[in-house]
Amino acid sequence: MTPESDANPFLQGNYAPWREEGDAPFLEVEGELPRDLEGTFYRNGPNPAYEPLGRYHWFDGDGMIHAITLRDGRASYRNRWVKSTGLAEERAAGKATFRGLLEITPTEAPRFKNTANTNIVWHGGKLLALMEAALPTQMAPCTLETLGEWDFGGQLGTAMTAHPKMDPETGEMLFFGYSPFPPYLVYHVANRSGALVRSEPIDLAWPSMIHDFAVTKDHVIFILCPLVFSFENVKERGGAFSWEPERGTRLGVMPRSGGNRDVKWFETDASYVFHPLNAYGENGKIVLDVARYNTLMFMSPRSSRKPEWQGDGEARMHRWTLDLTGGGVKSVPLDDASCEFPRADERRLGRKHRYGYAAVAPVTPESGMPAWPAVRRYDLERGTAETREFGAGAGAGEPLFIPRTATSAEDDGYVIVLVYDQTRDSSDFYVLDARNIAGEPIAKVKLPHRIPYGFHGNWVPA
Ligand SMILES: [Fe+2]
Repeated sequence: MTPESDANPFLQGNYAPWREEGDAPFLEVEGELPRDLEGTFYRNGPNPAYEPLGRYHWFDGDGMIHAITLRDGRASYRNRWVKSTGLAEERAAGKATFRGLLEITPTEAPRFKNTANTNIVWHGGKLLALMEAALPTQMAPCTLETLGEWDFGGQLGTAMTAHPKMDPETGEMLFFGYSPFPPYLVYHVANRSGALVRSEPIDLAWPSMIHDFAVTKDHVIFILCPLVFSFENVKERGGAFSWEPERGTRLGVMPRSGGNRDVKWFETDASYVFHPLNAYGENGKIVLDVARYNTLMFMSPRSSRKPEWQGDGEARMHRWTLDLTGGGVKSVPLDDASCEFPRADERRLGRKHRYGYAAVAPVTPESGMPAWPAVRRYDLERGTAETREFGAGAGAGEPLFIPRTATSAEDDGYVIVLVYDQTRDSSDFYVLDARNIAGEPIAKVKLPHRIPYGFHGNWVPA
């Protein structure tokens, strides 16, 4: 039988894992790195250490952290795997011993690896690598040594989403954990110093894969899509997840000062959302901008050899406006271009934003694979967007906005993004001017090797 890595496109090209850990203290910089940009960009992504056992899904790979540190106009790079207990077991065996998401069967008790491969965040003095089905994994900020799973001193009784929200005013970290078993959803709050101060089970109409959520200054919004999670009749349903659009998509709005009994559900057309851009309250309404798929992006449970899409497999920037008094959801497309990994200025989290950034992610029809040729900047007040292309065969990751100073205007700062350069088979770290993303880059750091396409990252100022 053909090895999975010879047949699965998520193990080929720049999706293929990079299997060395290293340090590159002195990187070549084109242009000039701004002196006020001091800190570390941490990026997480799946990077399977061994040839997969059975079918591979992009979400399965072991987490690898890539850290680019900028200081005094110079740049350095370091990468390390998240050394999970599962990976330690596989290293001892010298081969994969865990099966992936597509191999979940009802007959076999699934053994599960906390890959911590999805995001990496800084809160309460801790650097946490996250994946949504398990506890966070604490990493050492400088050495990237894996310090082990963190359960908030024994307080966290659920998994933790990879998309917690840091309130820019209170310093709180708001997050949730979901599960295919009751309670399906639990909302959590950690205070500024990282102590878990609240855990509230939330009633759901059905268990689902809930990747992300949104918050405003006063509300939390849970996004329940018709991707139904069940271990019953797995064979007939074609996997542990089934897409059931007749259920529609529901948005659960809870006052941050309230609880489960105060959640008000709003219904909109069936759609899937991995990532919101941001949300805010205004005049008795909640404005929620999301990267919205008409149907779900998921690989076929029957075959890992080609991603199967229903519809075009592309998300587009979209605005939902929820009327808190009159009820109802106004659903308005904002852009024609495909997008993923939307990000806004973190200082505007839960507050009115004007600008947003995202990777442009068209699906190549022949292969079914998403390509990442550009990043896009949205001006949502004017209703305009600007695209920065990176050239033939290039692949951009999630763009992050970094304000020039703590008090500078919403678009006064830098957009940082990792870009794969096919001609060099290596990656570059771009620093763009947020007000002119299509213009000459402010600086471009040449990395010593390619960084595989991955998921999310964050900037931690020095
Ligand atoms: Fe995500």
